[in-house]
Parts: sequence; C-alpha cells; structure tokens
Amino acid sequence: MSYLASVVTLGIETSCDETACGLVDSGMRVLANQIYSQVPIHSLYGGVVPEIAARAHLEKIDPMVRLALAEAAMDLGSVGQIAFTRGPGLLGPLLVGASFARALGRYAGIAVTGVNHLEGHLASAFLEDPSLEPPFLCLVVSGGHTEFVLVGPGLRYTLIGKTRDDAAGEAFDKGGKILGLGYPAGPLVARLAAEGNRDFAALPRALEQRDNFEFSFSGLKTAVLRYAEVHGPEFVRNNLPHICASLETAIVDVLVKKSVHALSATKMQVLTVVGGVSANGYLRERMQAEAKKRGFRAVFPSRLYCGDNGAMIAAIARWREDRGLTTVEVEVKPSLSWN
Ligand code: KG4
Ligand code: ZN
Repeated sequence: MSYLASVVTLGIETSCDETACGLVDSGMRVLANQIYSQVPIHSLYGGVVPEIAARAHLEKIDPMVRLALAEAAMDLGSVGQIAFTRGPGLLGPLLVGASFARALGRYAGIAVTGVNHLEGHLASAFLEDPSLEPPFLCLVVSGGHTEFVLVGPGLRYTLIGKTRDDAAGEAFDKGGKILGLGYPAGPLVARLAAEGNRDFAALPRALEQRDNFEFSFSGLKTAVLRYAEVHGPEFVRNNLPHICASLETAIVDVLVKKSVHALSATKMQVLTVVGGVSANGYLRERMQAEAKKRGFRAVFPSRLYCGDNGAMIAAIARWREDRGLTTVEVEVKPSLSWN
C-alpha cells in the first residue's frame, strides 16, 4: 500500500437523528461504519425532536468514535484527518458533532474540517465506485432534500432543480403517516408496497413537463389525505399494501421521468442517486430498467451508505483532500446548500 493509500479520515455525522462515525481511506475503502440510530426515540413523538436529538448525540458520540476505531482495529495515531458535518441540519445536533470533532482534533493534533452533508451523500457514490469522476448528474433524494445537481470537475456544483415543497422522503413519511404507519414511514411503505397493486389508487404526479426539473410532492400528500378521508379507516387498513404501492409508484414515476429528462438536457451519461430514499428497491429497479433502455449509467450506493452515516462524511473529506480541494470550514451552518 502506498503512503497516500494508507491515509485515513474519520467522519462524524450528527446533523439529524443518527449519531454516526466512519473511517475511510484514500482508496475509498470503508474501514469502519458505526451508526447509532435515534429513530426509536423520536418515533415516540412522530418526528425528530431537535433538543432530544442533541442530547442523544452528546451521549453517544464518544462511544461511536471508539467503536469505529475498534472496528478498524486502529487508534487515533492512524487518523490523518477528522471531518464533521457542518450543515445542512439541526443547529443543536450539528454543534455537538462540531465541538466534539474540534476538541478531538486539538487533543490528538489532527487536522479538522467541516463538510457539507449533501456532499457527503454525493460521496456515497464514490464508495460504490471509487473510479467515478465528474462530470455527472446527481439526484439527491432524502428526508429533507430532493434535487438535481450537476457535478463538474473540481466538484463545482450547478443546482438545476429542486423541490418546491416536500422532499421525496417526506412524501413517503407524510403519506405513510396519514395511512397510520409509524415514523419514518418510508421503509414501511416500501415493504408493504411490494405486495400491492400499483394501479389501485389514482394519485397525482406534479410538474410533468419535459423541461421542468423542479419537484412538488405536497399535492400528493393532500391527495392521500383526501383518499383516506373519503374511503375511511377500515378500507385503508384492508387495502394498505395497494395504497402504499400506489403512493410509492407516484413518487418513483416522477423521480425516474425527471431523471431521464435532466440527463438528456444536461447531456450527461452518468446519474448517481443518493440519500435515504435511494435505498428504495422499486426506485432502483425502475431507474436501472430505464438506464438499460436508454443507455445511461445509474449508480446507487450500497444500502449501507444511503441513509445518514459517517463513512460518507469521511469519504467526501478524503476525496477532496486527495485532490487538493480541501476548504477548511469549522463553523456550523444549518442552512448550508451546494455553494
Ligand atoms: O438521507 P436520510 O437518512 O436523512 C436525511 O438526510 O434526510 O433520509 C431519510 C429519508 C426518510 O424520509 C426515510 O423515510 C427515507 O429516507 N427512506 C426511504 C427508504 N429508506 C429510507 N424511503 C423510501 N424507501 C425506502 N426504502
Ligand atoms: Zn442525509
């Protein structure tokens, strides 16, 4: 192994409800990926409670870093860089990760850099394919974001469209909540949908024009609400897989169709799909079928790296550092976007 290939980055992710820590080297090999999910705590409240999230991060961050080092059979002496999520995300949770990373860096004499959570999701595709190089088009589909970003050489970003209201993950979560499913409903909707009739309920697809790369999912949520009110709780319970299948199809139809149009408008041949919703099996299947038919390449991260994790935070910092693209930022910014 060359010297460079042995350089390791520790990534710390605390932007929302996962306390996560990962170790990644220059070959984009994941040496450790430890995730403490706070989902069971927040599900009691039907969504993320920022104050509770910040406290849980404070409690779990140190053990998660220790667990990651143990998983990789390493100590801090082998770590060349510490990266933490500086935004976008919840202020309290971000501050916990930032303070911990800065303190650890100072104690151990290791360089610390804050990274963009969205760039972290983007880098989960590098973990899947370390040879992937810009330019390519990236579709970010998470609980808070749904957007197309054109990724140019040197990681220059051009945002070409995003949601006007809810994110795709919210469409799954809010739709599922109306149907009586717990938080977050996305994975449950997907599981039930696998057994359902996708044409059962007629649900809307918004902004279908070819040249429109924006999304809108709030009308879909309202349509699910109306559907549940009109048909009543017993009908909904008895037909849950069918309604979930119709909801999932309405979301995936839009994501796939718009991706095809965005690829053609940007003349890109590679599409990466990242973020929590990229774990969705039906989205993967439909996008890969379209890729085969139309001759583009669709890269999805392994399901291990779709949701929030520390490996992706380490990956973007390592990737940038190895190409001389590090910009040292240590302040948190809850509203951070691409540029
Ligand atoms: O990227 P992520 O872990 O957190 C954010 O940065 O937002 O994404 C979480 C979102 C949630 O809305 C969750 O319901 C959704 O991803 N999700 C899914 C699936 N797994 C997670 N949605 C649909 N199908 C899935 N299999
Ligand atoms: Zn995320």
